[in-house]
Amino acid sequence: MTNTENTRKTILSGIQPTNTPHLGNYLGATKNWVDMQASYDCVCFVADLHAITVRQDPAKLRAQTRQTYALLMAMGMDADKSILFVQSHNHHHAELNWVLSCFTQFGELSRMTQFKDKSSKGEDSMNAGLFTYPTLQAADILLYQADLVPVGADQKQHLELSRNIAVRFNNAYSPTLVVPEPHIPKAVGKIMSLSEPTKKMSKSDDNPNASVSVLDERDVIIRKFKRAVTDSEAQICYREEDEAKAGINNLLSIYAAVTGKAVAEAEAEFAGRGYGEFKEAVGAAVADVFEPVQREYARLIEDKAHLDACMKSGAQRAMRISGKTLAKVYRKVGLLSIDN
Ligand code: TYM
Repeated sequence: MTNTENTRKTILSGIQPTNTPHLGNYLGATKNWVDMQASYDCVCFVADLHAITVRQDPAKLRAQTRQTYALLMAMGMDADKSILFVQSHNHHHAELNWVLSCFTQFGELSRMTQFKDKSSKGEDSMNAGLFTYPTLQAADILLYQADLVPVGADQKQHLELSRNIAVRFNNAYSPTLVVPEPHIPKAVGKIMSLSEPTKKMSKSDDNPNASVSVLDERDVIIRKFKRAVTDSEAQICYREEDEAKAGINNLLSIYAAVTGKAVAEAEAEFAGRGYGEFKEAVGAAVADVFEPVQREYARLIEDKAHLDACMKSGAQRAMRISGKTLAKVYRKVGLLSIDN
């Protein structure tokens, strides 16, 4: 390793393999992982252990795990340069989770809004894993001594908890765990639903028109954007905090992010033009970005042996780093080691 590599900071992030990633996952998270590879050591994974907090069809989960992994590569994650793996292939995550659960307060977990949202939807599906989900997320992050965690805005509270757990552990013993910073993109940290623009775009939305999947075909993408809910003002302008403008704000943010333009530039480009034309242009711009990803994905998913070899090597490289942190943590808390 050269000196420059030694001084590089580490970023870490994960995505659940529940359904195909959507435009929100892409703009809020995965696109940034890809872009940040050039200047950071990057550890990224498919969070399959998190996915089983909700009952999954086993065969489907296995297929989606490989699919999500292939999609990350198709988006530009470099499995040689970065560490790209599947969470359950590294048992250190589950092990550190246990130790950190002894450093997480019941009250802290009860206050997590994602838990409160999910639990309010039905008592039957409630399980302890759903409750302790954020502690596993803290283990994911702290195992790699990550400096920055690129995520969407919905993960902010989980990141706060990870920081609190790290600080609590360090205070109880001595500095052991790096306290991570969230990295949330300002404009696209929360991409909204196309059909209800005051709600975030979500994989679990029952309405297929609410979100755009990375694997949607071009005409499907354009059709969904054409149907996007806006307002009756007929003005393509960005007005932050104005709920009536939520639809247009969302579309302008998406257009700016996928074309690399500033929002003001996008406003100028569409000044005086109709919503129909604008929505179609946003759809076309999104389809242009997803087209090469889809082509590369189609190629990668055919080569199962290559994907599995990448997953295996990714997990081995991940374990070399996480093993060191886990050993330190075990020693600090007083677990007896029989390795020399
Ligand atoms: P997940 O799978 O729900 O989402 C993956 C990433 O996509 C972001 N995201 C969004 N960003 C912008 N707009 C949206 N509408 C939108 N919806 C989702 C999420 O914020 C996330 O960054 N718990 C995590 C996975 C995880 C993780 C980790 C993340 C497990 N361990 C450690 C970071 C670090 C999750 O369920 O993400």
